[in-house]
Amino acid sequence: MENKCGCWALLKRGVRGACKPSASRDSANTIPRTSLVYDAATETRYLNASNRELCPPNEAKLSSDNPDPPPTDNKSPCQLLQFTFQELKSATGNFRPDSILGEGGFGYVFKGWIEENGTAPAKPGSGITVAVKSLKPDGLQGHREWVAEVDFLGQLHHPNLVKLIGYCIEDDQRLLVYEFMTRGSLENHLFRRTIPLPWSNRIMIALGAAKGLAFLHGGPEPVIYRDFKTSNILLDSEYNAKLSDFGLAKAGPQGDKTHVSTRVVGTYGYAAPEYVMTGHLTSKSDVYSFGVVLLEILTGRRSMDKKRPSGEQNLVAWARPYLADKRKLYQLVDPRLELHYSLKGVQKVSQLAYNCLSRDPKSRPTMDEVVKALIPLQDLNDLAILSYHSRLSQQARRKKKSEGTQQHTNAASKSIRDSPLNTSKQRCR
Ligand SMILES: Nc1ncnc2c1ncn2[C@@H]1O[C@H](COP(=O)(O)OP(=O)(O)OP(=O)(O)O)[C@@H](O)[C@H]1O
Ligand SMILES: [Mg+2]
Repeated sequence: MENKCGCWALLKRGVRGACKPSASRDSANTIPRTSLVYDAATETRYLNASNRELCPPNEAKLSSDNPDPPPTDNKSPCQLLQFTFQELKSATGNFRPDSILGEGGFGYVFKGWIEENGTAPAKPGSGITVAVKSLKPDGLQGHREWVAEVDFLGQLHHPNLVKLIGYCIEDDQRLLVYEFMTRGSLENHLFRRTIPLPWSNRIMIALGAAKGLAFLHGGPEPVIYRDFKTSNILLDSEYNAKLSDFGLAKAGPQGDKTHVSTRVVGTYGYAAPEYVMTGHLTSKSDVYSFGVVLLEILTGRRSMDKKRPSGEQNLVAWARPYLADKRKLYQLVDPRLELHYSLKGVQKVSQLAYNCLSRDPKSRPTMDEVVKALIPLQDLNDLAILSYHSRLSQQARRKKKSEGTQQHTNAASKSIRDSPLNTSKQRCR
Protein backbone atom coordinates (compact mmCIF):
# COMPACT_ATOMS: atom_id res chain seq x y z
CA MET A 1 0.00 0.00 0.00
CA GLU A 2 1.23 3.48 -0.83
CA ASN A 3 2.76 5.51 1.94
CA LYS A 4 2.58 2.70 4.44
CA CYS A 5 5.74 3.93 6.02
CA GLY A 6 4.68 4.00 9.62
CA CYS A 7 6.55 2.31 12.39
CA TRP A 8 5.10 -0.85 13.90
CA ALA A 9 8.29 -2.42 15.16
CA LEU A 10 8.15 -0.32 18.30
CA LEU A 11 5.00 -2.04 19.39
CA LYS A 12 6.99 -4.95 20.65
CA ARG A 13 7.41 -4.52 24.33
CA GLY A 14 10.79 -3.83 25.68
CA VAL A 15 11.87 -1.77 22.68
CA ARG A 16 12.92 1.47 24.19
CA GLY A 17 15.11 3.51 21.92
CA ALA A 18 15.83 7.11 22.54
CA CYS A 19 13.83 7.73 25.67
CA LYS A 20 14.86 10.91 27.27
CA PRO A 21 15.39 10.45 30.95
CA SER A 22 14.16 13.50 32.75
CA ALA A 23 15.86 15.11 35.66
CA SER A 24 14.23 14.94 39.08
CA ARG A 25 11.55 12.57 37.94
CA ASP A 26 11.11 9.69 40.25
CA SER A 27 9.45 6.45 39.37
CA ALA A 28 6.14 7.61 40.81
CA ASN A 29 6.03 10.16 38.06
CA THR A 30 6.40 7.79 35.19
CA ILE A 31 3.67 6.19 33.17
CA PRO A 32 2.17 3.01 34.52
CA ARG A 33 3.17 0.64 31.77
CA THR A 34 0.53 -1.75 30.68
CA SER A 35 0.27 -4.03 27.75
CA LEU A 36 -0.16 -2.24 24.48
CA VAL A 37 -3.84 -2.78 24.90
CA TYR A 38 -5.64 -1.45 27.83
CA ASP A 39 -8.27 -4.14 27.98
CA ALA A 40 -9.26 -3.86 31.59
CA ALA A 41 -9.71 -0.15 31.21
CA THR A 42 -11.71 -0.21 28.04
CA GLU A 43 -13.91 -3.00 29.33
CA THR A 44 -15.00 -1.13 32.38
CA ARG A 45 -14.90 2.55 31.83
CA TYR A 46 -17.66 4.63 30.40
CA LEU A 47 -17.28 7.93 28.71
CA ASN A 48 -18.63 10.89 30.51
CA ALA A 49 -18.35 13.03 27.42
CA SER A 50 -22.08 13.10 26.86
CA ASN A 51 -21.93 12.57 23.12
CA ARG A 52 -19.68 9.56 23.43
CA GLU A 53 -21.50 7.52 26.01
CA LEU A 54 -23.14 4.74 24.09
CA CYS A 55 -23.96 2.42 26.95
CA PRO A 56 -26.22 3.09 29.92
CA PRO A 57 -24.12 4.62 32.68
CA ASN A 58 -25.35 2.10 35.25
CA GLU A 59 -23.90 -0.72 33.18
CA ALA A 60 -20.58 0.93 32.90
CA LYS A 61 -19.84 2.38 36.29
CA LEU A 62 -16.27 2.30 37.37
CA SER A 63 -16.00 -0.07 40.21
CA SER A 64 -13.57 -0.11 43.05
CA ASP A 65 -12.87 -3.76 42.38
CA ASN A 66 -11.37 -2.74 39.09
CA PRO A 67 -8.21 -1.07 40.21
CA ASP A 68 -5.83 0.69 37.95
CA PRO A 69 -3.72 -1.96 36.22
CA PRO A 70 -0.35 -2.08 37.91
CA PRO A 71 2.69 -0.67 36.22
CA THR A 72 4.67 -3.39 34.53
CA ASP A 73 7.81 -1.33 34.51
CA ASN A 74 8.70 2.26 35.02
CA LYS A 75 10.01 3.15 31.59
CA SER A 76 8.51 5.74 29.33
CA PRO A 77 7.34 4.86 25.85
CA CYS A 78 10.02 5.38 23.30
CA GLN A 79 11.00 8.91 22.43
CA LEU A 80 8.34 10.58 24.55
CA LEU A 81 9.38 13.54 26.66
CA GLN A 82 8.22 13.78 30.23
CA PHE A 83 7.25 17.33 31.18
CA THR A 84 6.71 18.81 34.60
CA PHE A 85 3.42 20.55 35.26
CA GLN A 86 5.30 23.81 35.79
CA GLU A 87 6.97 23.52 32.37
CA LEU A 88 3.63 23.12 30.62
CA LYS A 89 2.07 25.88 32.69
CA SER A 90 4.79 28.24 31.50
CA ALA A 91 4.67 26.90 27.92
CA THR A 92 0.98 27.83 27.67
CA GLY A 93 1.23 31.18 29.48
CA ASN A 94 -0.42 29.78 32.62
CA PHE A 95 -3.06 27.99 30.53
CA ARG A 96 -4.35 31.31 29.31
CA PRO A 97 -7.95 31.22 28.11
CA ASP A 98 -7.00 32.95 24.87
CA SER A 99 -4.60 30.10 24.05
CA ILE A 100 -7.42 27.53 24.11
CA LEU A 101 -7.54 25.65 20.80
CA GLY A 102 -10.61 23.64 21.62
CA GLU A 103 -12.41 21.63 24.23
CA GLY A 104 -13.29 17.96 24.14
CA GLY A 105 -14.93 15.56 26.54
CA PHE A 106 -11.76 15.29 28.56
CA GLY A 107 -10.68 18.86 28.89
CA TYR A 108 -9.18 21.86 27.17
CA VAL A 109 -6.48 21.90 24.52
CA PHE A 110 -4.05 24.85 24.76
CA LYS A 111 -1.51 26.25 22.34
CA GLY A 112 2.01 26.49 23.74
CA TRP A 113 5.70 26.75 22.90
CA ILE A 114 8.65 24.64 23.98
CA GLU A 115 12.36 24.79 23.27
CA GLU A 116 13.66 22.52 20.54
CA ASN A 117 15.18 19.28 21.84
CA GLY A 118 13.81 19.50 25.33
CA THR A 119 10.99 20.11 27.73
CA ALA A 120 11.80 23.71 28.66
CA PRO A 121 9.09 26.26 27.90
CA ALA A 122 9.83 28.79 25.16
CA LYS A 123 8.63 32.31 24.49
CA PRO A 124 5.39 32.49 22.48
CA GLY A 125 6.23 32.35 18.80
CA SER A 126 9.66 30.75 19.31
CA GLY A 127 10.91 27.17 19.52
CA ILE A 128 8.34 24.49 18.68
CA THR A 129 4.60 25.12 18.73
CA VAL A 130 2.69 22.44 20.60
CA ALA A 131 -0.87 21.57 21.58
CA VAL A 132 -1.23 20.74 25.27
CA LYS A 133 -4.26 18.68 26.25
CA SER A 134 -5.11 18.93 29.89
CA LEU A 135 -7.40 16.24 31.20
CA LYS A 136 -10.10 17.29 33.62
CA PRO A 137 -9.23 15.79 36.97
CA ASP A 138 -12.08 13.27 36.84
CA GLY A 139 -10.26 10.33 38.36
CA LEU A 140 -9.65 6.87 37.13
CA GLN A 141 -11.52 7.06 33.87
CA GLY A 142 -9.67 10.09 32.54
CA HIS A 143 -6.39 8.60 33.68
CA ARG A 144 -7.12 5.41 31.79
CA GLU A 145 -7.81 7.21 28.56
CA TRP A 146 -4.67 9.21 29.13
CA VAL A 147 -2.68 6.01 29.56
CA ALA A 148 -4.23 4.45 26.46
CA GLU A 149 -3.27 7.56 24.48
CA VAL A 150 0.32 7.47 25.69
CA ASP A 151 0.49 3.73 25.22
CA PHE A 152 -0.71 3.73 21.60
CA LEU A 153 0.59 7.03 20.27
CA GLY A 154 3.89 6.62 22.07
CA GLN A 155 4.54 3.56 19.97
CA LEU A 156 2.73 4.00 16.67
CA HIS A 157 4.35 6.32 14.16
CA HIS A 158 2.94 7.18 10.76
CA PRO A 159 2.56 10.36 8.67
CA ASN A 160 -1.22 10.16 9.14
CA LEU A 161 -1.20 9.83 12.94
CA VAL A 162 -0.69 12.93 15.04
CA LYS A 163 2.66 12.98 16.80
CA LEU A 164 2.62 12.75 20.56
CA ILE A 165 5.65 14.67 21.82
CA GLY A 166 5.30 13.93 25.50
CA TYR A 167 3.20 13.86 28.62
CA CYS A 168 3.00 15.08 32.18
CA ILE A 169 1.86 13.07 35.19
CA GLU A 170 2.04 14.82 38.53
CA ASP A 171 -0.33 14.11 41.41
CA ASP A 172 -3.76 14.22 39.77
CA GLN A 173 -2.57 16.26 36.78
CA ARG A 174 -2.57 14.43 33.45
CA LEU A 175 -1.46 16.27 30.34
CA LEU A 176 -0.48 15.33 26.82
CA VAL A 177 1.75 17.33 24.47
CA TYR A 178 1.18 16.96 20.73
CA GLU A 179 2.62 18.48 17.61
CA PHE A 180 0.56 21.56 16.81
CA MET A 181 -1.74 21.05 13.85
CA THR A 182 -2.02 24.45 12.23
CA ARG A 183 -5.42 24.04 10.62
CA GLY A 184 -7.19 22.40 13.53
CA SER A 185 -9.81 19.73 13.02
CA LEU A 186 -11.74 18.65 9.94
CA GLU A 187 -14.88 19.33 11.95
CA ASN A 188 -13.95 23.01 12.09
CA HIS A 189 -13.40 23.20 8.36
CA LEU A 190 -16.54 21.33 7.37
CA PHE A 191 -19.05 22.76 9.81
CA ARG A 192 -17.82 25.94 11.45
CA ARG A 193 -16.10 27.94 8.74
CA THR A 194 -17.86 30.19 6.29
CA ILE A 195 -15.44 29.39 3.46
CA PRO A 196 -16.24 25.91 2.14
CA LEU A 197 -13.44 23.36 2.05
CA PRO A 198 -12.58 22.80 -1.66
CA TRP A 199 -13.36 19.44 -3.23
CA SER A 200 -9.70 18.56 -3.85
CA ASN A 201 -8.89 19.18 -0.17
CA ARG A 202 -11.80 16.98 0.86
CA ILE A 203 -10.45 14.10 -1.23
CA MET A 204 -6.93 14.61 0.07
CA ILE A 205 -8.14 14.60 3.68
CA ALA A 206 -10.30 11.50 3.16
CA LEU A 207 -7.30 9.74 1.64
CA GLY A 208 -4.93 10.75 4.45
CA ALA A 209 -7.36 9.66 7.14
CA ALA A 210 -7.96 6.37 5.28
CA LYS A 211 -4.22 5.74 5.20
CA GLY A 212 -4.05 6.33 8.94
CA LEU A 213 -6.76 3.74 9.58
CA ALA A 214 -5.25 1.31 7.05
CA PHE A 215 -1.96 1.56 8.92
CA LEU A 216 -3.63 0.79 12.25
CA HIS A 217 -5.55 -2.17 10.81
CA GLY A 218 -2.69 -3.55 8.75
CA GLY A 219 0.06 -3.99 11.30
CA PRO A 220 1.23 -7.20 12.93
CA GLU A 221 -0.88 -6.30 15.98
CA PRO A 222 -3.92 -4.63 14.43
CA VAL A 223 -5.45 -1.75 16.31
CA ILE A 224 -9.09 -0.73 16.10
CA TYR A 225 -9.38 3.03 16.48
CA ARG A 226 -13.03 3.16 17.63
CA ASP A 227 -13.45 6.93 17.61
CA PHE A 228 -13.15 7.92 13.98
CA LYS A 229 -14.92 11.26 13.51
CA THR A 230 -14.27 14.68 12.03
CA SER A 231 -13.08 16.26 15.30
CA ASN A 232 -10.38 13.60 15.61
CA ILE A 233 -8.99 14.27 12.14
CA LEU A 234 -6.48 17.10 12.48
CA LEU A 235 -4.97 19.05 9.60
CA ASP A 236 -1.49 20.47 9.16
CA SER A 237 -0.69 23.60 7.15
CA GLU A 238 -0.94 21.65 3.88
CA TYR A 239 -4.19 19.91 4.78
CA ASN A 240 -2.49 16.59 5.49
CA ALA A 241 -4.84 14.63 7.73
CA LYS A 242 -3.65 13.02 10.96
CA LEU A 243 -5.68 10.95 13.40
CA SER A 244 -5.62 12.02 17.03
CA ASP A 245 -7.18 10.67 20.24
CA PHE A 246 -6.33 7.06 20.90
CA GLY A 247 -8.06 6.97 24.28
CA LEU A 248 -10.61 4.49 22.96
CA ALA A 249 -8.31 2.48 20.69
CA LYS A 250 -8.26 -1.25 21.20
CA ALA A 251 -6.20 -4.15 19.91
CA GLY A 252 -7.92 -6.10 17.18
CA PRO A 253 -8.75 -9.82 17.37
CA GLN A 254 -5.74 -12.11 17.48
CA GLY A 255 -5.25 -15.49 15.86
CA ASP A 256 -8.44 -17.11 14.60
CA LYS A 257 -10.72 -14.80 16.61
CA THR A 258 -13.14 -12.82 14.45
CA HIS A 259 -13.85 -10.01 16.90
CA VAL A 260 -13.12 -8.63 20.34
CA SER A 261 -15.95 -8.17 22.80
CA THR A 262 -16.10 -4.83 24.53
CA ARG A 263 -18.41 -2.38 26.11
CA VAL A 264 -19.87 -0.07 23.56
CA VAL A 265 -18.11 3.27 23.53
CA GLY A 266 -17.64 5.75 20.76
CA THR A 267 -19.68 8.60 19.38
CA TYR A 268 -23.33 8.61 18.43
CA GLY A 269 -23.79 8.85 14.72
CA TYR A 270 -20.47 7.19 13.91
CA ALA A 271 -20.57 3.78 15.61
CA ALA A 272 -21.35 0.73 13.47
CA PRO A 273 -24.83 -0.70 14.14
CA GLU A 274 -23.64 -4.29 14.81
CA TYR A 275 -21.11 -3.00 17.34
CA VAL A 276 -23.74 -0.96 19.16
CA MET A 277 -26.07 -4.00 19.20
CA THR A 278 -23.61 -6.70 20.23
CA GLY A 279 -20.42 -5.08 21.52
CA HIS A 280 -18.52 -7.18 18.97
CA LEU A 281 -15.72 -5.04 17.65
CA THR A 282 -13.86 -5.62 14.38
CA SER A 283 -11.84 -3.38 12.11
CA LYS A 284 -15.00 -3.17 10.00
CA SER A 285 -16.51 -1.02 12.76
CA ASP A 286 -13.89 1.62 11.88
CA VAL A 287 -14.73 1.18 8.19
CA TYR A 288 -18.36 2.02 8.96
CA SER A 289 -17.28 5.16 10.85
CA PHE A 290 -15.10 6.05 7.88
CA GLY A 291 -18.19 5.78 5.68
CA VAL A 292 -20.02 8.22 7.95
CA VAL A 293 -17.14 10.72 7.76
CA LEU A 294 -17.00 10.31 3.98
CA LEU A 295 -20.69 11.22 3.86
CA GLU A 296 -20.03 14.28 6.03
CA ILE A 297 -17.23 15.30 3.66
CA LEU A 298 -19.52 14.82 0.65
CA THR A 299 -22.59 16.54 2.06
CA GLY A 300 -21.24 19.10 4.53
CA ARG A 301 -23.83 17.75 6.98
CA ARG A 302 -23.12 16.48 10.48
CA SER A 303 -23.60 12.78 11.24
CA MET A 304 -26.21 13.81 13.81
CA ASP A 305 -27.90 17.19 13.60
CA LYS A 306 -30.82 17.89 15.89
CA LYS A 307 -31.36 21.25 14.21
CA ARG A 308 -32.49 19.62 10.97
CA PRO A 309 -36.05 18.49 10.27
CA SER A 310 -36.89 15.01 11.53
CA GLY A 311 -35.96 12.55 8.80
CA GLU A 312 -32.77 14.47 8.11
CA GLN A 313 -31.20 14.41 11.57
CA ASN A 314 -29.40 11.10 11.12
CA LEU A 315 -27.15 11.58 8.13
CA VAL A 316 -26.78 7.91 7.18
CA ALA A 317 -30.52 7.25 7.31
CA TRP A 318 -31.22 10.38 5.27
CA ALA A 319 -28.50 9.76 2.67
CA ARG A 320 -29.01 6.03 2.02
CA PRO A 321 -31.78 6.38 -0.59
CA TYR A 322 -29.73 8.98 -2.48
CA LEU A 323 -26.61 6.83 -2.42
CA ALA A 324 -28.52 3.94 -3.89
CA ASP A 325 -29.88 5.94 -6.84
CA LYS A 326 -27.41 7.22 -9.44
CA ARG A 327 -29.80 9.92 -10.62
CA LYS A 328 -30.10 11.37 -7.15
CA LEU A 329 -26.44 11.34 -6.16
CA TYR A 330 -25.79 14.95 -6.90
CA GLN A 331 -28.47 16.04 -4.46
CA LEU A 332 -26.11 14.88 -1.73
CA VAL A 333 -23.28 17.24 -2.61
CA ASP A 334 -22.53 20.02 -0.12
CA PRO A 335 -24.44 22.98 -1.61
CA ARG A 336 -21.68 25.33 -0.54
CA LEU A 337 -19.44 23.74 -3.17
CA GLU A 338 -21.86 25.03 -5.82
CA LEU A 339 -20.58 23.34 -9.00
CA HIS A 340 -16.95 23.09 -7.89
CA TYR A 341 -16.68 19.33 -7.54
CA SER A 342 -15.70 16.43 -9.76
CA LEU A 343 -18.68 14.62 -11.30
CA LYS A 344 -16.94 11.25 -11.39
CA GLY A 345 -15.48 11.96 -7.94
CA VAL A 346 -18.96 12.34 -6.48
CA GLN A 347 -20.01 9.04 -8.06
CA LYS A 348 -16.98 7.20 -6.71
CA VAL A 349 -17.13 8.74 -3.24
CA SER A 350 -20.85 7.94 -2.99
CA GLN A 351 -20.24 4.35 -4.07
CA LEU A 352 -17.43 4.02 -1.54
CA ALA A 353 -19.51 5.52 1.26
CA TYR A 354 -22.37 3.17 0.34
CA ASN A 355 -20.05 0.15 0.57
CA CYS A 356 -18.46 1.30 3.86
CA LEU A 357 -21.92 1.79 5.34
CA SER A 358 -23.13 -1.68 4.37
CA ARG A 359 -25.23 -3.19 7.14
CA ASP A 360 -23.27 -6.43 6.73
CA PRO A 361 -19.76 -5.78 8.09
CA LYS A 362 -18.28 -8.49 5.87
CA SER A 363 -19.46 -6.64 2.76
CA ARG A 364 -17.60 -3.50 3.76
CA PRO A 365 -14.24 -2.94 2.08
CA THR A 366 -10.98 -3.08 4.03
CA MET A 367 -9.23 0.22 4.64
CA ASP A 368 -6.53 -0.83 2.18
CA GLU A 369 -9.24 -1.15 -0.48
CA VAL A 370 -10.64 2.24 0.53
CA VAL A 371 -7.20 3.82 0.08
CA LYS A 372 -6.87 2.22 -3.36
CA ALA A 373 -10.27 3.55 -4.37
CA LEU A 374 -9.49 7.08 -3.20
CA ILE A 375 -6.05 7.51 -4.76
CA PRO A 376 -7.24 8.03 -8.37
CA LEU A 377 -9.88 10.55 -7.25
CA GLN A 378 -7.13 13.09 -6.55
CA ASP A 379 -6.47 13.53 -10.26
CA LEU A 380 -10.01 14.00 -11.56
CA ASN A 381 -10.58 17.32 -13.31
CA ASP A 382 -14.13 16.80 -14.58
CA LEU A 383 -15.57 19.64 -12.56
CA ALA A 384 -19.32 20.07 -12.64
CA ILE A 385 -18.88 23.76 -13.37
CA LEU A 386 -17.01 22.93 -16.60
CA SER A 387 -19.69 20.52 -17.70
CA TYR A 388 -22.30 23.14 -16.86
CA HIS A 389 -20.54 25.79 -18.97
CA SER A 390 -20.08 23.49 -21.92
CA ARG A 391 -23.76 22.50 -21.79
CA LEU A 392 -24.66 26.12 -21.57
CA SER A 393 -22.66 27.11 -24.62
CA GLN A 394 -23.85 24.07 -26.60
CA GLN A 395 -27.45 24.94 -25.87
CA ALA A 396 -26.87 28.57 -26.65
CA ARG A 397 -25.31 27.64 -30.01
CA ARG A 398 -28.18 25.33 -30.84
CA LYS A 399 -30.72 27.96 -29.89
CA LYS A 400 -28.96 30.63 -31.88
CA LYS A 401 -29.06 28.39 -34.94
CA SER A 402 -32.75 27.62 -34.68
CA GLU A 403 -34.19 30.83 -33.28
CA GLY A 404 -31.73 33.44 -34.46
CA THR A 405 -31.68 36.17 -31.85
CA GLN A 406 -33.09 34.30 -28.84
CA GLN A 407 -31.72 35.79 -25.64
CA HIS A 408 -28.86 33.96 -23.97
CA THR A 409 -30.29 34.36 -20.49
CA ASN A 410 -33.37 32.26 -21.28
CA ALA A 411 -31.11 29.45 -22.43
CA ALA A 412 -29.13 29.71 -19.26
CA SER A 413 -32.06 29.47 -16.89
CA LYS A 414 -33.56 26.57 -18.83
CA SER A 415 -30.30 24.68 -18.80
CA ILE A 416 -30.09 25.11 -15.04
CA ARG A 417 -33.57 23.70 -14.57
CA ASP A 418 -32.95 20.79 -16.91
CA SER A 419 -29.51 19.87 -15.73
CA PRO A 420 -29.34 16.63 -13.74
CA LEU A 421 -26.61 18.31 -11.75
CA ASN A 422 -28.77 21.02 -10.38
CA THR A 423 -31.34 19.39 -8.25
CA SER A 424 -30.66 21.50 -5.20
CA LYS A 425 -31.91 25.06 -5.15
CA GLN A 426 -28.78 26.43 -3.54
CA ARG A 427 -26.67 25.30 -6.47
CA CYS A 428 -28.99 26.95 -8.96
CA ARG A 429 -27.69 30.45 -8.47
N1 LIG B 1 -2.62 18.74 18.10
C1 LIG B 1 -3.54 19.70 17.94
N2 LIG B 1 -3.27 20.80 17.21
C2 LIG B 1 -4.19 21.77 17.04
N3 LIG B 1 -5.44 21.71 17.54
C3 LIG B 1 -5.78 20.64 18.27
C4 LIG B 1 -4.87 19.58 18.53
N4 LIG B 1 -5.49 18.63 19.26
C5 LIG B 1 -6.74 19.08 19.48
N5 LIG B 1 -6.93 20.29 18.89
C6 LIG B 1 -8.15 21.10 18.90
O1 LIG B 1 -8.81 20.92 20.12
C7 LIG B 1 -10.14 20.41 19.88
C8 LIG B 1 -10.53 19.49 21.03
O2 LIG B 1 -9.84 18.29 20.89
P1 LIG B 1 -10.21 17.01 21.75
O3 LIG B 1 -9.51 15.87 21.11
O4 LIG B 1 -9.89 17.30 23.16
O5 LIG B 1 -11.77 16.87 21.67
P2 LIG B 1 -12.75 16.49 20.48
O6 LIG B 1 -12.05 15.52 19.57
O7 LIG B 1 -13.25 17.75 19.83
O8 LIG B 1 -13.95 15.80 21.22
P3 LIG B 1 -13.98 14.40 21.94
O9 LIG B 1 -13.62 14.63 23.35
O10 LIG B 1 -15.38 13.94 21.79
O11 LIG B 1 -12.99 13.52 21.25
C9 LIG B 1 -10.06 19.76 18.51
O12 LIG B 1 -11.30 19.69 17.88
C10 LIG B 1 -9.09 20.67 17.77
O13 LIG B 1 -9.78 21.78 17.25
MG1 LIG C 1 -10.50 14.50 19.80
